[in-house]
Amino acid sequence: MTHAPTDLVGTSVGPYRLERLLGQGGFAWVFAGRDADGTPVAVKLLKPRYAGDPQFETRFRNEAELAAKLRHPRIIPIRAVARAGGDVYFAMELCPDSLGARIERDGPLPEAEIARIAREVAEGLQFAHGEGVIHRDLKPDNILLRADGSAVITDFGIARTRSGYVASTGVNMTIGTPQYLSPEQAQGRTLDQRLDFYALGITLFKAATGELPFRSSDWFELARLHVEQPPPSLRRKRPELSKRLERVVRKCLAKHPNDRYRDATELLADLAAVEAHRRAATAARATPLGTRAWRAVRSAAEQAPWEWVVGAGVLLVALVVLVIKLLR
Ligand SMILES: Nc1ncnc2c1ncn2[C@@H]1O[C@H](COP(=O)(O)OP(=O)(O)OP(=O)(O)O)[C@@H](O)[C@H]1O
Ligand SMILES: [Mg+2]
Repeated sequence: MTHAPTDLVGTSVGPYRLERLLGQGGFAWVFAGRDADGTPVAVKLLKPRYAGDPQFETRFRNEAELAAKLRHPRIIPIRAVARAGGDVYFAMELCPDSLGARIERDGPLPEAEIARIAREVAEGLQFAHGEGVIHRDLKPDNILLRADGSAVITDFGIARTRSGYVASTGVNMTIGTPQYLSPEQAQGRTLDQRLDFYALGITLFKAATGELPFRSSDWFELARLHVEQPPPSLRRKRPELSKRLERVVRKCLAKHPNDRYRDATELLADLAAVEAHRRAATAARATPLGTRAWRAVRSAAEQAPWEWVVGAGVLLVALVVLVIKLLR
């Protein structure tokens, strides 16, 4: 029986050859590999201790099959969900990078990139929510980046169809990653799609500052912070960020779901405004001030009718004569 994931490098699961370990999460290993026809793939393989648990295996496979039905440019395409011998796995598109790795490597991202990635993720959520699927574990490691830098959401791994979900309590409540857990998840309350906006808010805060808004090594303390503590100001940490972006993040991080975005469409509208203002500000900066001032004068002159110009001249002369007379 295999205990170390590295032992599996060079072997095959089903038709896939495993070439390199990419990482591991709570219950699975992820490998870069190749399909029989040579196409690069990522293979997410259930750790043996979970693959031996029929209940866990069924849940993993059901959730992967549910995720495989979500076909959208901003959601990772799943090629196959299968069991081969004792291996339980699914194969998906291989991405060269993730938002988590990018932040780790480069630190805080420029605002233009944060806004673009937020928009792309919101587009994926808009589609999934429309299909009745909530992600429930959105975080930088579950936002992959393609070679062109575009974002694609992975791991609807603990997603549930909205209609089928019953709010859980006790041990089951701890599903998800505690740093990104919404207040309603932390409290075991009824959940809906708006919990994904909270996790996106934490993700954007991390992308903008390199830090998490709430930190504690104690799960219960962390849960308390999510429920009670207002998030730190984004612009106090990075004053060059726009107020618009800060407002989006703050709205995502509202404690009560009613104070967050109602749906991804509403979020996308605000993100479009952030991007539009950024573009306008960048264009204005790209034009030298001298050129801008000259253009303004020229366009004013072009638009001014002659009567106005003559009238203004006469008025000016009269004013000068009056001043001279008064001074005498
Ligand atoms: N399709 C993929 N292409 C490239 N890297 C991937 C792919 N899928 C996952 N990864 C990377 O593999 C690593 C392990 O992923 P995994 O989903 O097992 O854990 P996680 O997302 O960190 O935590 P969790 O268990 O909560 O999902 C992550 O760093 C992730 O970014
Ligand atoms: Mg993951």
